[in-house]
Amino acid sequence: MSVDAIIGGQWGDEGKGKIVDLLSKNVQIVARYQGGANAGHTVYRNDQKVVLHQIPTGALRENCICILGNGMVIDPIGMLDEINILKQLDVAVEGRILIDYYAHIVTPIHKCIDRTNEKRTNNKIGTTCKGIGPTYTDKYNRIGIRAVDLLSYETLKEKIESRLDFAIQEHQIAMDELTDLKQEIIEFYAACKNISIYIQDTFKHLHDNEEMNILIEGAQGTMLDIDHGTYPYVTSSNCSSGGISVGLGLPGSRLNNIIGIFKAYTTRVGGGPFPTELFDKDGEILGKIGKEFGATTGRPRRCGWFDLVAARYSVAINGLTHIALTKLDILDSFDTIKVCTSYDLHGKKITNLTEALNNLEDIKPIYKELKGWKSEIREYSKFDQLPLSTKNYIEYLESELKVPISIISIGPKRHQIINRN
Ligand code: IMP
Repeated sequence: MSVDAIIGGQWGDEGKGKIVDLLSKNVQIVARYQGGANAGHTVYRNDQKVVLHQIPTGALRENCICILGNGMVIDPIGMLDEINILKQLDVAVEGRILIDYYAHIVTPIHKCIDRTNEKRTNNKIGTTCKGIGPTYTDKYNRIGIRAVDLLSYETLKEKIESRLDFAIQEHQIAMDELTDLKQEIIEFYAACKNISIYIQDTFKHLHDNEEMNILIEGAQGTMLDIDHGTYPYVTSSNCSSGGISVGLGLPGSRLNNIIGIFKAYTTRVGGGPFPTELFDKDGEILGKIGKEFGATTGRPRRCGWFDLVAARYSVAINGLTHIALTKLDILDSFDTIKVCTSYDLHGKKITNLTEALNNLEDIKPIYKELKGWKSEIREYSKFDQLPLSTKNYIEYLESELKVPISIISIGPKRHQIINRN
């Protein structure tokens, strides 16, 4: 039996979906422990692109059941859409998708509060407007609605009505949205009824079967972690491996491998500091070739070079045992590839991110230049076949991060991957 976790090493969108899909081949459970519909995990099934937001990507492998853990925030309307997508693809769902009793529920009220907050602050954080922050706020304020509440219509209705009254009284929502909101709440009740068959106790699945291989699927990325990320420009959950213990009730001592997913360059969506962000032609090329648009919001992602300072921090915070490097093929056309090795903060050289985490807007990245390979690498299947400069790039990152880069993704298709294990 093994328990492995996949964690976003950067600011999210590292290409976790494809790696989960690969590693879920031989597992019986895939579980998510945080976040919700703010995530957008893309996988290909028979060349067809499938984007899942809440249901773990492992759903496409029918050998596994999918657990949506207590640490998640579930949007019933979105859940129903995703279940319907899977049904249309002839993927079995009943008995395979389990929402934990104590996962919190994103209601239309929370989504409305998120939108209102964003408008009032002029999109300061640039959230996905999926209601994530307001739902976690209610959780910690001990007024949240949990999946178990969906099992009784009366309980749910009472909680929704009282939450709506509170939102109006506290001016949390814009009044011109009220009519639409009430309409959406009707749709919400119907979705809750539909998804109630998936709600259950997930504890026994995670703890009572010694034979199971479990894969844990993180969403977003370490630099968006509410505690360890670039606060306040973060999401509202613990995306790093520390979140697993609380978000699934699965203690750290059960974890075998923790695999960090890193894009071969860096991207970020939404507001907040981004030390290696490029505003030049190179940034444009990365965005264009990498098709860097958010899978959830469609927003263009900000692009930059690989940041070793942030990556070293991520290795440490998560206790990474392996790395999967993704989208390496996007660098195919560059003459030179830059890697940020340290920061300059008012003349002081910084190699440890925590010394600059609160001043990231003020740093200047210091780069090392590596030779590009100027050729297409998508159809190679072994590390040794890669061009020398490609191998040098991978080995340089590996030596700096002191963690083996055991998986290298070189294209969007399932077969475009090099497994070094
Ligand atoms: P929220 O999670 O919707 O509250 O958004 C908070 C911040 O996290 C915003 O900057 C979002 O763009 C970012 N974010 C949330 N989810 C993802 C994701 O899955 N990938 C990348 N960025 C994300």
